Amino acid sequence: MDIVRSPYAYAKIKNINSEKALAIPGVLAVVTGKDLEQYNLHWMPTLMSDTQMVLPVDTVMYQAQEVAAVIATSRYIAADAIEAVEVEYEVMKPLMDAHKSLDKDSPILRTDKEGKKDNHVWHWEAGDKGKTDIAFNKADVTVAEDIYLPRIHVASMETCGCVADYDKVNNFLTMHMTTQAPHAIRTVIALVAGHVGLTEEKIRVISADIGGGFGGKVPVYPGYVIAIAASFLIGKPVKWIEDRSENLQADSFARDYHIHCEMAATKEGKMLATRFKLLCDQGYTDAAANPSKFPAGMFSICTGSYNYDAAFIEADAVYTNKPPGGVAYRCSFRVTEAVHAIERLTDSLARKLDKDPAQLRMENFVKKEEFPWKSPTGWEYDSGDYHKALRKAMDVVGYEDLRKEQAEKRKDGKLMGIGISSFTEVVGAGPSKDFDILGIKMFDSAEIRIHPTGKAIARFGTKSQGQGHETTYAQIIAEVLGIPAENIQVEEGDTDTAPYGLGTYASRSTPTAGAAAAVAARKLRDKAKKIAAYLLEVSEEDLEWDINKFVVKGAPDKAKTIQEIVFAAYTNHPQGMEAGFEATHYYDPPNLTFPFGSYICIVDIDKETGKIDIRRFVAIDDCGNIINPMIVQGQVHGGLTQGIAPAMYEELIYDEDGNILNGTFMDYLVPTAVESPSWETGHTVTPCPHHPIGAKGVGESPTVGAPPAIANAIIDALSPYGITHLDIPITPFKVWKKLKEVGAFNN
Ligand code: CDP
Repeated sequence: MDIVRSPYAYAKIKNINSEKALAIPGVLAVVTGKDLEQYNLHWMPTLMSDTQMVLPVDTVMYQAQEVAAVIATSRYIAADAIEAVEVEYEVMKPLMDAHKSLDKDSPILRTDKEGKKDNHVWHWEAGDKGKTDIAFNKADVTVAEDIYLPRIHVASMETCGCVADYDKVNNFLTMHMTTQAPHAIRTVIALVAGHVGLTEEKIRVISADIGGGFGGKVPVYPGYVIAIAASFLIGKPVKWIEDRSENLQADSFARDYHIHCEMAATKEGKMLATRFKLLCDQGYTDAAANPSKFPAGMFSICTGSYNYDAAFIEADAVYTNKPPGGVAYRCSFRVTEAVHAIERLTDSLARKLDKDPAQLRMENFVKKEEFPWKSPTGWEYDSGDYHKALRKAMDVVGYEDLRKEQAEKRKDGKLMGIGISSFTEVVGAGPSKDFDILGIKMFDSAEIRIHPTGKAIARFGTKSQGQGHETTYAQIIAEVLGIPAENIQVEEGDTDTAPYGLGTYASRSTPTAGAAAAVAARKLRDKAKKIAAYLLEVSEEDLEWDINKFVVKGAPDKAKTIQEIVFAAYTNHPQGMEAGFEATHYYDPPNLTFPFGSYICIVDIDKETGKIDIRRFVAIDDCGNIINPMIVQGQVHGGLTQGIAPAMYEELIYDEDGNILNGTFMDYLVPTAVESPSWETGHTVTPCPHHPIGAKGVGESPTVGAPPAIANAIIDALSPYGITHLDIPITPFKVWKKLKEVGAFNN
């Protein structure tokens, strides 16, 4: 299958003529929105309960939107045939500027929604407005920033794709696809196609090695649904693989938040309150992958690592003629935006007070003994030791010496900057009382089966995309049961075999399925104890666990290994006990986990060219107890590189006619090893008090924490020239232009 895409951002479809395409030998079908409309399959729900076109019937809403699909006997023929599909458009002026979307003279985009009279999507508030206003009124000092977190795109190794294989005889759909959330997708397909007979038991979703996801492979894209419809239509498996430009131009974006933020403080530097006003550009439909209750995701963690008691957030989302989405790109639903705002504001306050930014942070951090700490916006931070993490980062980087060096360099007019980000993260969605997607609670699951010979298979509702779950989940089970990790086969991604789960994104796997693994393994150890007592003819109280066996207290030679016990579970179990050795657990976390860290970035900037060199970058992370240090370090390295990406390189840019100006990797700059500095990583360990093994998630921390550290370092370098803000990505050209503007050099 290949897809005809719109060259225009906003246009009426006058006619689609498929004749020439159908005449090409090897072309089996051309599918249009009108074809799908007959089965009521032309629209589908988004994960935020909005609606999205599968294929348009009369209007296209963004450049590169799917307009029709060609199914042919080979990808090459399909690619030729999409050129032969003739589409007649009546082009309209698109709405590209979120700031103008509520203007009276802007077109109303969602005319499909009955009675919709504007482009407003939702309004959301968190915190206490009255209390915050009072704090601002009595503050000695206030600072404000206008920050734009630009639209960026996940650039995983592989694009999206699927093979939709509909078996007419058995009315059964097998969907091999690139998804981070196979079970949720199965449910969504059943919701979309249940009325044509594809009910949930007739659908199997298989997600194998998908080449990275980072949040971008959570949504249901039209391509998947068209492939299903096409397989239905022609009775053959249909394969669809996006090319890189399609992926970059049409799939869900991340960020695109305009943030006005303010902080109030005393003249001594005690933080008192923050206020945030957001304008959120959703594109033409809200297809964000956020929990239902949180339309702006977890932005309300924007109070960060600091102790003050008033904050207020007001967010409005609007439609524009851009691709839909709002994916949690290596981010716990908008926490990246939140952390960026608070960490930039903190530096602004330090500058205004002429205070060292590290000192200001140290003075305002929530203290170790104050946990669990209730934030002014209602989160209960589980545990933390922010002072320790920042102190460690300062020691590793040699902070005090670097400040002295900076002062010397400034005398010579040289631009050196030191940037800090002391972030608090919020991962592990989530507790069922607050977290659901399309009504499905955000628990996750583990099922462990130990075979008679003591080897195991463990299946999970999450889905690794390269994070190494096969290693770490096996380690968790091995630790509890004493079965060697190499004897534990870990499987994810097949809805016919894995227990139901919500998938992997937003660093939720360790806090949810990792916890489920530990609890299920403990259930098995409890059963093992009963069997060991029976085999050893002692009571359970007489037994103690020793790495991989139950031993009779005081009689170390009287013991049964886990392998002997498991064998007995199938061959010689006590009368009345259920045979076999398996356990399942659906873990509903009591709270989220709050990993944190302190990052320090050192930059040198060449004044004449604006070239930015990251001289050093020290990252101290705390994700509670670490399951596998090597995997965590790998997560941090990759995440930091994805952190320099928005800080210095990546941004999707559109012109006012809705054309994307950097829709290929020639122009959309993804940093590589060449652009990455040599990361210096380290950690502190503050266990999570409510997680069965004291672990917190880690995958996204570096992507969340790095951008403000880099931005703060660059602004710190430029501050002698009175420059206090540049929007990310901060490119050499932006720096050079600004320096020229303020008269930093003459030529
Ligand atoms: O949901 P996702 O797997 O992307 O994120 P995560 O839970 O943060 O885990 C990323 C990887 O790091 C997994 O293989 C985890 O098991 C591992 N990890 C770890 O070894 N120790 C931790 N405390 C947290 C994560």
